[in-house]
Order: sequence, then structure tokens, then C-alpha cells
Amino acid sequence: MSDPVIKVEKLNKSFGANHVLRDFSVSLAKGETLAVLGKSGSGKSVLIKCIINLIEKDEGEIIVLGNDVSEMSQEELDSLRTRVGFLFQSNALYDSMTVRENLEFPLRRHWTKDQRERTAEGAVMEVLTDVGLAHTADMMPEELSGGMRKRIALARTLILRPAIILYDEPTTGLDPVTAREISHLIVKVQKKYDTSSIVISHDMHCINTTANRVVMLIDGRCYADDTYANLQQSTDPKIKEFFD
Ligand SMILES: Nc1ncnc2c1ncn2[C@@H]1O[C@H](COP(=O)(O)OP(=O)(O)OP(=O)(O)O)[C@@H](O)[C@H]1O
Ligand SMILES: [Mg+2]
Repeated sequence: MSDPVIKVEKLNKSFGANHVLRDFSVSLAKGETLAVLGKSGSGKSVLIKCIINLIEKDEGEIIVLGNDVSEMSQEELDSLRTRVGFLFQSNALYDSMTVRENLEFPLRRHWTKDQRERTAEGAVMEVLTDVGLAHTADMMPEELSGGMRKRIALARTLILRPAIILYDEPTTGLDPVTAREISHLIVKVQKKYDTSSIVISHDMHCINTTANRVVMLIDGRCYADDTYANLQQSTDPKIKEFFD
């Protein structure tokens, strides 16, 4: 078996007296989609921000695509982040730019040599078509619905062809029908681009649709690590709570 694309070992992170992550360990295999399930405030966003070093860990080891993120220079981290897409909970689109400009933005910053051979316009239209929004290239983010904005944020993550995508609550704040569409879209684009991913969520339908494996983050620790189907059968009250 090949090395995991992400390996987190005994990660500890506190903010003052708030000990958020306690000896948290998890690994992500190539091609896998791992869901991290936990209540609001349990540390899910902190975990994925530590993985790309947007938040500095206190203790533990974080290896991403073979690199120890705490030992990387700013330049190396910038380059790593082109291979690790991050879909923010807030989408983080630029309101003053059109959809096209939002999508071109990461290309202008990070375009590598082989990517330069494709035109920006071609790359933009391909990912827009992937997410079913080819007609929105000249629209402003404020003209889009919440579900459309989420799709554009996903397209912007895909445009750099990342090896890994970290999704922070991809369906939160969306109505159930739109949430389902986004979950299925995640599965579709991951197949096309052969990405490995972590999906942070408390949307059980999203987790069941997207994930091969589920890790439960409770009290800062990895409480369970299993398939959705097995966890669903569990009689442990802490696990049952999520499925009821
Ligand atoms: N930059 C920060 N400074 C101080 N405390 C923080 C910071 N970021 C997160 N925290 C704290 O860490 C804890 C975990 O926050 P986190 O955002 O990871 O929760 P979450 O599981 O993502 O919740 P949600 O489901 O609501 O998004 C919270 O108690 C939060 O207040
Ligand atoms: Mg969060």
C-alpha cells in the first residue's frame, strides 16, 4: 500500500485554556474520502486549518504529500497549497470580481508550467461546466444563490487540479435539496479529477454520500474511525446521537 497522502499523529492544539485537539491522529489514503464528524465547536475547522498550517499546531506531526508542514518555508507552503485545495466554510469569493475573475485569480497566482499551456479561459470554462454553471462567468457573486456560490467556490478549488481537497462544511446553510446536489457534485468531480479528500460536516446525508470512512471528533480525540454503515449500527450513545 502507498503512503497516506495526509498523516496526522498525536496532534495537540489549544487556544489559551481551551484544549481543542488532544492527541488527535488520523490518516488519509490516496483516492479516499474521509469525513470528520463532530459537533459545532469540536475543532473540525481547527483540524483542517492545522493540516495546511493556516493554524500552527502545538504538538504532534502533520505530514501532507510527504512533507512535514511545520518544517516548510512560506514559499514551500504556498506551493503545497496549490496541491491541497481548501473549500472554506464561508466560500470566500471576492465580491468585487466576476465569477470568471474569481476563478482566474488562483491561476494567476499559482499557474505552473504545464498549466500555462492551457488557456485561462479554457480552464475557467471547464471547471464552470463541471459544476453546471457555465452561464455564470460574467456574473457577480451577489447575483448568485447560496448553492451557486458553493459551486463556484468548488470550481475555484478544482481549477488548480489539486491532489487533495479539504471541504469545510460544504452543505451548511443550504436547503436539503441543494445540499444533496452539492454532495453528489463532490462525488462527481472527485471521480473526474481523482482527488483524495477530507469532508468536515455534520450533515449525515453529505457524509453518507461522499465518504468512504468516517472519523468522529469528540472531546478533542478521535472517538471512532469506521465506515458510515458500521457507525450507523453502533449502540454507543455518543455515536447514536449523530444518527438519530
Ligand atoms: N483563531 C482562534 N482563536 C481562538 N480560539 C479559536 C480559534 N479558532 C478556533 N477557536 C476555538 O476552537 C474551538 C473549535 O473551533 P472550530 O472552528 O474548529 O469548531 P468546528 O468544529 O469547526 O465548529 P463548526 O461546526 O461550528 O464550524 C472553538 O472553541 C473555537 O472557539
Ligand atoms: Mg467549522
